[in-house]
Amino acid sequence: MSEVLFSAAPIKDHGIEHHDFLRAVIDGLGKTQKELPCRFFYDERGSVLFEEITRLDEYYPTRTEAAILRNCAGEIAAASRPGTVLIEFGSGSSTKTEILLEAMPQLGAYVAIDVSESALEEARARIEARFPHLRVETLIGDFSGLISLPAICRDAPALGFFPGSTIGNLTRPEAITLLRHFNDLLGVGSRFVAGVDLKKDTVILLPAYNDAAGVTAAFNLNLLVRINRELSGDFDLNQFRHESVWNESAGRIEMHLVSLCAQNVEIDGHRFHFARGETVHTENSHKYGVGEFQSLARSAGWAPAKVWTDPERLFSVHELAAGA
Ligand code: AVJ
Repeated sequence: MSEVLFSAAPIKDHGIEHHDFLRAVIDGLGKTQKELPCRFFYDERGSVLFEEITRLDEYYPTRTEAAILRNCAGEIAAASRPGTVLIEFGSGSSTKTEILLEAMPQLGAYVAIDVSESALEEARARIEARFPHLRVETLIGDFSGLISLPAICRDAPALGFFPGSTIGNLTRPEAITLLRHFNDLLGVGSRFVAGVDLKKDTVILLPAYNDAAGVTAAFNLNLLVRINRELSGDFDLNQFRHESVWNESAGRIEMHLVSLCAQNVEIDGHRFHFARGETVHTENSHKYGVGEFQSLARSAGWAPAKVWTDPERLFSVHELAAGA
């Protein structure tokens, strides 16, 4: 019998994904402040655009986090017992993972969890070629619906890995719920390494989400392209523009799509009106001071163990420990 690891069917069935997307779009555009969930950014084109974002001069998080990880991987390795299983939530291309894998020959296995089967298989091939002695397992699905870890994790020390400031997409209450969920999953004695983007001057922050080459704009607008293609929408791409703003009271960058005129849009038989200047809120990217994230982690049952940052204090990598 195969193990039941997810609360919902892993996203293999396109019927489920299509239905989930349609429902989210109809619900989100029906709200007073229109919104679309950012998890739908990552179709094939969206994933390519995001990889492009990570290489932009203005987008400091990816290269800064990689540099911090190269500096702290040895310390993380030194604290890890032989046979430790590294479990990555939302592994995508697993690029940063290799920095840890290189420093941790004592690992028992690497478990990669992602919604994209193609990303998982590409990552597996690359990692198995580079680390022939490492056991690699992949799980296709949304990590928030994961209800237990695979058998290989049983009785092994667990090290969770959640890089890229993905936690920033969630509001504070949602972030606490997710960190608590990871704490429950990984269990007693486990550790957790999370990459968290730091609060900083908007002179640095705003261009990171509104680059000169327009890649972030294309990434944001691609959500409308996807709705047109997959849900038979009729968004006029020329009548919306990308906008990123810093919301000081919420401590986050928000991405919006601004309607350039009064217009109606039809999606799968549903009609939505947009006033001129009205926005669709498409993403939150929360930023945390070091102490702020540590107290958030504490309210989710984690004890802050170590934290590393870069000399410019752009980004942070936190190590957390679950109760004994
Ligand atoms: C993948 C959620 C960390 O918030 O910086 C990049 C996504 N959005 N540019 C971020 C994103 C616009 C990114 N995260």
